[in-house]
Amino acid sequence: MRVQVVIVGSGPAGLLLGQLLHLSGIEAVILEHRSKDHVLGRIRAGVLEQGAVEMLERAKVASRLHAEGLIHSGFDVLFGGIRHRIDLRGLAGKNVIVYGQTEITRDLMDAREAAGARTVYETDWVSIHDFDADRPTVRYCKDGRETEIACDFIAGCDGFHGVCRRSIPASAISCFERVYPFGWLGVLSDTPPISEELIYVNHERGFALCSMRSRTRSRYYVQCTLSEQVDEWPDERFWDELRLRLDTTSAEKLVTGPSIEKSIAPLRSFVAEPMRFGRLFLAGDAAHIVPPTGAKGLNLAASDVHYLSIALAEYYASGAQQGLDTYSERALKRVWQAERFSWWMTHLLHRFPEAGAFGDKVQRAELQYLVGSNAARISLAENYVGLPY
Ligand code: FAD
Ligand code: DHB
Repeated sequence: MRVQVVIVGSGPAGLLLGQLLHLSGIEAVILEHRSKDHVLGRIRAGVLEQGAVEMLERAKVASRLHAEGLIHSGFDVLFGGIRHRIDLRGLAGKNVIVYGQTEITRDLMDAREAAGARTVYETDWVSIHDFDADRPTVRYCKDGRETEIACDFIAGCDGFHGVCRRSIPASAISCFERVYPFGWLGVLSDTPPISEELIYVNHERGFALCSMRSRTRSRYYVQCTLSEQVDEWPDERFWDELRLRLDTTSAEKLVTGPSIEKSIAPLRSFVAEPMRFGRLFLAGDAAHIVPPTGAKGLNLAASDVHYLSIALAEYYASGAQQGLDTYSERALKRVWQAERFSWWMTHLLHRFPEAGAFGDKVQRAELQYLVGSNAARISLAENYVGLPY
């Protein structure tokens, strides 16, 4: 079997790349380790930058996003019991759209099926070979049968724990990492959101975030320790803890209900450089992780795919190599901007066990500077809505 591009992983990066390649007439197969239902069941990102929305428009999968997505022109930062609004539209001239990653995944899977493009779910033992030479191959096992695919390029869109990055010789890749000493406990519930806009909370008891998926579905997070388990957090305990981290007015408005999903995510900053090795290109979480505080992970996956899809389309249209040769450098420039912002926002809003009294005072001063300085608020707003591609 032979295709032009093998994409490993059917998260947002792999699916979006597959759709854009299909629209450019490039044949790609996606290999996904999990089942379709499992991929659709993962609750993750919720905030989309305009650049990512434009990508989904280019991919012709944005009609439901425009019908159901919620346009947000600002969010609140809550500290010391007071909410301060960051006016994204006023400060940075752009909005963000709240639309769940699950819905984007569903829209992309539907488009892929309608186009008759191939995804092989529940593949085992995916391995990639000869990607430093002209004729790469990918092998996998499905229902006990082994298959080998020859291709021109491999797109490693298989997330942080995937096989592609790990297949690059250690001498050819540099990794930069920061692991944070806490996680996010997230709850999804069919209850109306506490507010029209998101609230990012800095509290003595730890960070909290009030987000949403629709006008009737809420998504909340509280900072937790790395040793905590989901089953130590029955719904009542979660709601009580969240309420304690809110201001009085918001706490009174909180509508609670049974959780329909509850999970703990560790926080990490990570970048692997370069993002290309021969005919293997890494995109999305396979190459980099940001802590979720700045809402950048999914948006970065989209920007990688933007550069990679254009480079591949140019290559197949005219033989031009320049886009492929500059992919890693261009993508990494944006990646490091998002890394810096997510790292900064994580430090601004979380309780760090090692910070001590001095660290807490400096953090409070930084928050006060932010709400008091127009320049600081513009910087936050510009980074949050996303830098141009
Ligand atoms: P993934 O979504 O991880 O997809 C990788 C795929 O590859 C998976 O389907 C996996 O099963 C598959 N795979 C792995 N190994 C193999 C293998 N060996 N063979 C075949 N397939 C394999 N980002 C934002 O932009 N905004 C937000 O608001 C936001 N909030 C978040 C909140 C939380 C709690 C979390 C955890 C993340 C959040 N993110 C957010 C980050 C965002 O979800 C990720 O950055 C995004 O999913 C990255 O997409 P991806 O396609 O690169 O990787
Ligand atoms: C959501 C997640 C984030 O990390 C964030 O910064 C904003 C919203 C969410 O899941 O809704």
